[in-house]
Amino acid sequence: MDIEDKVNHLIKLLESSEYTIAFTGAGISAESGVPTFRGRGGLWEKFDPLKLATPEAFREDPRRVWEWYKWRMEVIAKAKPNPAHIVLAKLEEKGIVKAIITQNVDGLHQRAGSKNVIELHGNIWRARCTNCNYKTRLQEPPRKIPPKCPECNNPLRPDVVWFGEPLPRKAWEEALNEASKADLIIVVGTSGVVQPAAMIPVIVKYHGGKIVDINIEEDNYTNIADLFIKTKAGQVFKTLGEKLKLI
Ligand code: OAD
Repeated sequence: MDIEDKVNHLIKLLESSEYTIAFTGAGISAESGVPTFRGRGGLWEKFDPLKLATPEAFREDPRRVWEWYKWRMEVIAKAKPNPAHIVLAKLEEKGIVKAIITQNVDGLHQRAGSKNVIELHGNIWRARCTNCNYKTRLQEPPRKIPPKCPECNNPLRPDVVWFGEPLPRKAWEEALNEASKADLIIVVGTSGVVQPAAMIPVIVKYHGGKIVDINIEEDNYTNIADLFIKTKAGQVFKTLGEKLKLI
């Protein structure tokens, strides 16, 4: 089957679905120029997650951790939503997609116009105090690192989820609720290895729903997917958007 046939199959699944959601990972932003974590050229090939993305790493060297987040913020600030983000937003606007559950912290779904975005791993443009309840939105990468809390002068940390930390409770509950309602989940650009987020498509399947898996490589869902599209996400959604006259 070529890409056209696969996208036609996806359209049929969308037509027979009453409640479609999307589950996205770093691969959806790859074509926007944001590096993924795993796979060829992935961040974890060059960087050690234990030194950059754990609470212990931050306690040990907050400057090092902030340097890395600052660099990622600079990359993300230059990135623009690609056809995958844009068509997902249009599908939501048309009422076809009800929610996007994302593991990404880059905010590109919102910049593409998506409204119901559930961020399981936080957002790189937010920071919070390591001591008090202060939270803030960052307009640009902080100049002085680590930035200090204006209320108690302790260091602020990126408001993202690090290894060994629980997911934000509200986001996780919302994601579980969406997954229990969905009869179709479009999984885009995720390896599906980081728990508990990786359970979301499995929960949909468990409730009798279908999985469409879009990835340039096989991933953890390929074997249980009802449709696997081994193509770049941008290309799949561009084709879909054109066929449905969304772009
Ligand atoms: P990964 O980096 O683990 O996986 C990215 C996936 O995207 C891989 O399976 C690639 O094959 C695929 N991919 C790459 N380019 C693509 C493209 N153009 N179109 C479609 N697919 C493409 O990213 P995540 O699964 O999001 O967590 O990683 C999950 C979590 O691990 C992240 O949220 C982060 C990370 O450590 C934390 O930091 C807590």
